[in-house]
Amino acid sequence: MKELEQRIRQEGAILSDKVLKVDSFLNHQVDTELALATGREFAKVFAGEKITKVLTIEASGIQFAMAAGIALGVPFVYAKKKKAVTQSDNVYTATVQSFTRGETYQVTVDQRYLGVDDKVLIVDDFLATGAALVGLVDIVRQSGAELVGVGCIIEKSFQEGRGLLEEKGVKIHSLARITSMKPGEVHFAEEEQSEHKLSIKERV
Ligand code: G4P
Repeated sequence: MKELEQRIRQEGAILSDKVLKVDSFLNHQVDTELALATGREFAKVFAGEKITKVLTIEASGIQFAMAAGIALGVPFVYAKKKKAVTQSDNVYTATVQSFTRGETYQVTVDQRYLGVDDKVLIVDDFLATGAALVGLVDIVRQSGAELVGVGCIIEKSFQEGRGLLEEKGVKIHSLARITSMKPGEVHFAEEEQSEHKLSIKERV
């Protein structure tokens, strides 16, 4: 998604070769128009899949799952990281190791909101180590629902997340795929493909 790549170039702060800060438009202050556009993009990519529910994890996946839910005309559910007193005991549970916070936590989804009749699209802001997303895949499988795929806003393709999910047979669509980065420099997958196409053309 070109607009997203442009915003990452303009506003993203690359804190190291692994951590990208995008909190001016994605995961602290949120550009609502951009968020809605990501939802429309996922709806286009997964059109015809008869998705009944979008699933994400709190906190930073919520705005994108909501955007995808709006575009698809279905509800979204977010996995909770802390058990609320109002929550029932009938929950699906998975253990997740957080990349940014360095802690392990349990995520839960109430069994009433995911079941065998559902076709689920998982949406999240980052695909990095895959820990959070593997937890969500596990929850979908516990529920007996069908997993249509995973939609990510930003994928850091140089981390292990994509490989882990693909090993589980999960279809992934990321709107911006970062192949490498370091302070002051970011490279996207498509850009590399077009550079490759260009060099092929030049050789012809
Ligand atoms: P994932 O690949 O399945 O998403 O799992 P991983 O554990 O690697 O990453 C999940 C957490 O790390 C998420 O936040 C995600 O937003 C964050 N994250 C991963 N890479 C980056 C990065 O380069 N920049 C930023 N800003 N965040 C990154 P979380 O801490 O688990 O929760 P929350 O912030 O959504 O509450």
